[in-house]
Amino acid sequence: MAKVISDGIGAFYQHYPRVATVVTAQAKGKANAMAVAWHMSISFNPPLYGVSIASKRFTYQLIADSREFGVNFLPFEAAELVASVGGSKGEEVDKFRRFNIATDKSVKTKVPILEAAYAAYECKLVDDRDYGDHRLLVGEIVAVHQMKEAFTSDEVIDLDKVSPILYLGHELYVTASRDTVKSLDREVYGKR
Ligand SMILES: Cc1cc2nc3c(=O)[nH]c(=O)nc-3n(C[C@H](O)[C@H](O)[C@H](O)COP(=O)(O)O)c2cc1C
Repeated sequence: MAKVISDGIGAFYQHYPRVATVVTAQAKGKANAMAVAWHMSISFNPPLYGVSIASKRFTYQLIADSREFGVNFLPFEAAELVASVGGSKGEEVDKFRRFNIATDKSVKTKVPILEAAYAAYECKLVDDRDYGDHRLLVGEIVAVHQMKEAFTSDEVIDLDKVSPILYLGHELYVTASRDTVKSLDREVYGKR
């Protein structure tokens, strides 16, 4: 395949697929959820997680008010939920009611945790910075919810039990299959 070089990023999908998450927040009695593909782990100690959210999102206002957010990782069967909360505005609709989203109790914050999530982080906001048309929100993870059976004894996601939602861009989603897993020992490969 021939490569072309351009100075524009286009739809900015070159670095996809990305795991699609649902970021949740609540403030002043209002709860909301939105789809977020731009997110990352930042530090083990303290445990920090970052999400990149446009300031015009209703969810951003709730996070700025409450200084808390949740990051929910859902199985592929729940991809429709990602599209639902990513295609609607919390300003206009109560997404939890409209899409019949069940929640679990949060323990260290007041953020909604999605019952369907195989893992979720409760985060307390430690930094909120403007970067172009998005804000990078960094949270300290204060509680981790996880379905034990979705992970192996090494704490790796068990693809026989749960399939993550990989977002390809536009309206396209795919998942990972157990058959494609390769085990490559870095000690061995680093010395070749
Ligand atoms: C799969 C997917 C990923 C998305 N990722 C992001 C993201 O990383 N950051 C962001 O600001 N918006 C992202 N969006 C858009 C928001 O989810 C969308 O604008 C949503 O309606 C915002 O809801 P709110 O206004 O209720 O907060 C994404 C949408 C989809 C469908």
